[in-house]
Amino acid sequence: MSEFTIRPMRTGEADEVSELVRVSTNHWYESHARGAIFTGPAEATRLFCEVYEALDPGFCIVAEDAETGRLAGSCFYRRRETHISLGIMNAHPYFFGQGAAAQLLAFITNYADQQGLPIRLVSSAINLDSFSLYNRAGFVPRIIFQDMFIESLDEDLLASVNGADRVRPATPDDIPAIVSLEQELVGIRREKDYRFFIENAMGIWHTLVLEGDDGRIDGFLGSVAHPGSNLLGPGVMRDESTAEALIAAQLNHHRDSTPVFLVPAQAAELVRTLYGWGARNCELHFAQIRGDFRPPTGVIMPTFMPETG
Ligand SMILES: CC(C)(COP(=O)(O)OP(=O)(O)OC[C@H]1O[C@@H](n2cnc3c(N)ncnc32)[C@H](O)[C@@H]1OP(=O)(O)O)[C@@H](O)C(=O)NCCC(=O)NCCS
Repeated sequence: MSEFTIRPMRTGEADEVSELVRVSTNHWYESHARGAIFTGPAEATRLFCEVYEALDPGFCIVAEDAETGRLAGSCFYRRRETHISLGIMNAHPYFFGQGAAAQLLAFITNYADQQGLPIRLVSSAINLDSFSLYNRAGFVPRIIFQDMFIESLDEDLLASVNGADRVRPATPDDIPAIVSLEQELVGIRREKDYRFFIENAMGIWHTLVLEGDDGRIDGFLGSVAHPGSNLLGPGVMRDESTAEALIAAQLNHHRDSTPVFLVPAQAAELVRTLYGWGARNCELHFAQIRGDFRPPTGVIMPTFMPETG
């Protein structure tokens, strides 16, 4: 085991952390019979530092090797009204298995305990290193998600989905309704995140809402399009047909690319519909939560940019 100093990322270290995220993730997946995750230009993973620093400056922490000063690991986290969100965790392959991730995680679990808040994250079900890291620290897998994508879309089919005519782009005026819907169905609040997505200063997010007959918001679904991240989510919907309409509208918006989206495996009708549209699974993820958890009602769709488990 190496000795690590856990401290916030310093100004000027963003390039090194971005490289660490890319090398670590690609190395892990390539050495476990899968392809690289980050296949775009090397600078694309700078997105993680840029987004998390814009949202919550100082909440990226690194593990510095006490002997050499090299960065051995990094992790992003943020505090919201009801919980702490933990974003992407990485150890440099040179330091795999030496405790860097466990020490970064201990720093964040101590912080969460001081704040008296649960921690929420999404971790890959095929990555036993990360599953075990969190599970040993008291996280409990609560929800299974299927990571899906659709390579060739039938645009006519998408346009005919029930409820498509009630989907529209979200505006800042929708933020209170979005926040209350998530509170009602999932029991958590994170207004700052939704303000960030909808204000969209970086120009890479696209958030849609579905408005019911009475003018109430029945669901919302975001998406991000960037060489470092091409995903649908986050989303919360009252029911599976609302989720279907929002996913169709987002896929329509992104028809020149192939975004990945996470769907709860328990939403069986929705999953069946997505197979009918040509969806394929590329991975499975667990919502892992340390501390209080209330099973959600409705459908939830997390994203990794930024992490919204
Ligand atoms: C997952 C990852 C962050 C782990 O980093 P690491 O620094 O090698 O992890 P650590 O050395 O701190 O070990 C983590 C813990 O998991 C334990 N562990 C690992 N595999 C295990 C298994 N199969 N069963 C039980 N425990 C296991 C280790 O013993 C250790 O626990 P301990 O500290 O109580 O002994 C690293 O493999 C990585 O960066 N992978 C690529 C990116 C990634 O997958 N990130 C996570 C998703 S966001």
